[in-house]
Amino acid sequence: MSSPISAVSQMLQRNQAFFVGKRLLICGALEDDYPHQLGTLTSALTVFTTDYCYYRRQQRALGAAVVFDHQLAGSPRFDALLLLMPKAKAEAQYLLAMMAPLLEPSAELFLAGENRGGINGADKLLALYGDKSIKRDSARRCSLYHSILSKPVAPFVLDEWLRQYECHAGNTSLTVLALPGVFSAEELDDGSKMLLDNLPPMAGELLDFGCGAGVIGSVLAKRNPDLAVTMVDINALALESSRRTLAINGLTATVRASDIYSDLSQPFDHIVSNPPFHAGLNTFYAATETFLCQAPAFLRAQGRLTIVANGFLRYQPLLENHFKQTEIVSSDAKFKVYLSRL
Ligand SMILES: C[S@@+](CC[C@H](N)C(=O)[O-])C[C@H]1O[C@@H](n2cnc3c(N)ncnc32)[C@H](O)[C@@H]1O
Repeated sequence: MSSPISAVSQMLQRNQAFFVGKRLLICGALEDDYPHQLGTLTSALTVFTTDYCYYRRQQRALGAAVVFDHQLAGSPRFDALLLLMPKAKAEAQYLLAMMAPLLEPSAELFLAGENRGGINGADKLLALYGDKSIKRDSARRCSLYHSILSKPVAPFVLDEWLRQYECHAGNTSLTVLALPGVFSAEELDDGSKMLLDNLPPMAGELLDFGCGAGVIGSVLAKRNPDLAVTMVDINALALESSRRTLAINGLTATVRASDIYSDLSQPFDHIVSNPPFHAGLNTFYAATETFLCQAPAFLRAQGRLTIVANGFLRYQPLLENHFKQTEIVSSDAKFKVYLSRL
């Protein structure tokens, strides 16, 4: 018996005749085994995702058909594209521009998602690629839009999608490069700035958890030339942004995908983070709670964890449960910086 599927997948299932026999590219997350079911109807299926958690969950069912990256490599060709609406519209624009050159002329274009996730802006997004789109289905607060690729498609140039800005944290200036939808893509976050203003000189090995565009790890690598920095994130666009930020500043660090500690083994002398507290559309602290609770296992004996968080988030009791000593080293009306020692 197959497991229950989401409202979006049920809507796609009602319309799946469109996908039969096609070389189908799905981009984004369907949180069930419907991608696998679709694979039995299509002539070829590729599922592209920028989300490492989703990639790990789907790998068992889809094997090499699921790809985690910031860009689909090579020159595969597709007859149909199904984009699951990402939470940031700028990311949807980026993904469509990246995938459109891989589509055959007159390919089918589908955009699906929940109404609260902005799917009703789909017709504007699709207007760049085809004539008027049709709303094929709408039920249980989800919608499916359909268009045909009929307009000329420009080659995809990644550099055109990078935002660049200068940021200043204490005496350190940094050029930041960020792809659409990445946290702090436009300017340094006030919380990250407060964190950077409260970090002493550092040596040894440092983990920047949830690196985003790479601001924290890059500023610390610049200030502390002997510090070995590792940056992790689950978002492929964040990881590529971090690589670009490091490169433009002439810095080096290890940048890798990891869902919390999934791909990490060594202990660090320092862990620093402006940890996530929104994931998708629901406020969600589970990843950050796991990150904080398991931090002691990834720190050396004299290791320190320093994080910044919105003042209303109740991280202090959690930190006090897992570390011998926790203090608030800075706070204002919005943020607190916590320093925890083993
Ligand atoms: C608040 S942002 C901070 C970004 C960056 N450090 C800065 O200060 O600008 C949190 C980051 O954590 C990442 N993230 C969310 N869940 C994660 C997980 N389970 N494992 C690793 N990183 C995660 C997000 O993609 C996001 O880039």
